[in-house]
Amino acid sequence: MMIVITGATGSIGRALVERLRGHDVLAVVRKPAGDLGCDHALADFDEPGTIGALLSPGDRLFLNSSLWPGFTDAHRAVIDLAARAGVAQVVAVSVRGATPGAKLGGGMHGGVDAHLRRSGLPWSILQPTGFMQNLPREVRNGRFYGSYGPGPVNYIDARDIAEVAAALLTRPVGPDADLVLTGPESRSHDQIAEEISAALGRPVRYVDLPVPEMAAHLERQGLPQPQAGDLAELMAATGDGRWASTTTTVEDLTGHPPRSLSAFLTDHKPAFAT
Ligand SMILES: NC(=O)c1ccc[n+]([C@@H]2O[C@H](COP(=O)([O-])OP(=O)(O)OC[C@H]3O[C@@H](n4cnc5c(N)ncnc54)[C@H](OP(=O)(O)O)[C@@H]3O)[C@@H](O)[C@H]2O)c1
Repeated sequence: MMIVITGATGSIGRALVERLRGHDVLAVVRKPAGDLGCDHALADFDEPGTIGALLSPGDRLFLNSSLWPGFTDAHRAVIDLAARAGVAQVVAVSVRGATPGAKLGGGMHGGVDAHLRRSGLPWSILQPTGFMQNLPREVRNGRFYGSYGPGPVNYIDARDIAEVAAALLTRPVGPDADLVLTGPESRSHDQIAEEISAALGRPVRYVDLPVPEMAAHLERQGLPQPQAGDLAELMAATGDGRWASTTTTVEDLTGHPPRSLSAFLTDHKPAFAT
C-alpha cells in the first residue's frame, strides 16, 4: 500500500512529502524530481491514464494540482480511475466556498468535489482559505494591490494544509468529510500590510482599488479577461467577510494551532523581493 501524492512539487506537496518521511510514498511528478528525496513516477493530469496506471488496490491518494482549463475533467477522470483501481481513500485539495458553477477555481473545484462525493471512494475534501504563500509574490516595490476593501480576510499557511493531509493519510480511514481549513486569525489587508512591514523592517502598503481598476491592473500583469474581472470581483466579495470565520480543524487534526501570519513572515522573509 502506497501513499500516492500528486502535485508533489507544489507548496503543499513538498511539505507533505517532508511530513511523510518513513512512510511508503510515491510522488507523481511531471519532470524528474530527485530533490524530493522519495520514490517518484512521471505522470500528467492531462493524460489521466498515466496517473491511473500508478494506482493499486488499498493505495491512499492525495489529489492536488494547480488549476488550468482542463482541471475539472482531468481530476474527475483520475477519480474514476482511482475507484476502478480500488484506492482506499482520496484526500483532495479544494478551496473554501467551492461550488459547481462558481467563477474561477471555486467552480472548477466544485465540479471535482461533487464528482468525488458520489464516486463511492472514501474521501476527505480540504477547503482552505487563501495561502500565505501567495503574499511574497504579490508584494512589489513596497506595495500590493487588491479590491478587498477594509473587511477581514483569512490566510492559511500551506504547511498546515500538508500537515492535515499527512494526518488523514496515515491514520485509519475515517468518515467522509468536508474540512474547512483556516489560519488562526482574519485581518484587513491594511493590518496585513502593517504585519509585513514590521516583519521585513521596511514599509509595505496595501493599495485598495475599485473592481474595474483592479481588473485592469491584473490585465496589465498578464491575466486575460474574463479571469481578471472575475478575480477582482472575487476579491471584493471576499472582503465582505464571508470566509473570515476561523475553524479549529487544523488544531483538531494536527494537535497544534495553525501557524500565524507573523510566524509565516519570520520563516519567509527572503522570499519577499527587496
Ligand atoms: N493559492 C491559494 O491561495 C489557494 C487557496 C485555496 C485553494 N488553493 C488550491 O490549492 C491547489 C494548489 O496547491 P499548491 O499550492 O500545492 O499548488 P502549487 O504550489 O502551484 O503546485 C501545483 C502542483 O501541481 C502540479 N501540476 C500542475 N499541473 C499538473 C498536471 N497537468 N499534471 C501533474 N501535475 C500538475 C505542479 O507540478 P509542476 O511542478 O510540474 O508544475 C505542482 O506540483 C489548487 O487546487 C488551488 O485551487 C489555492
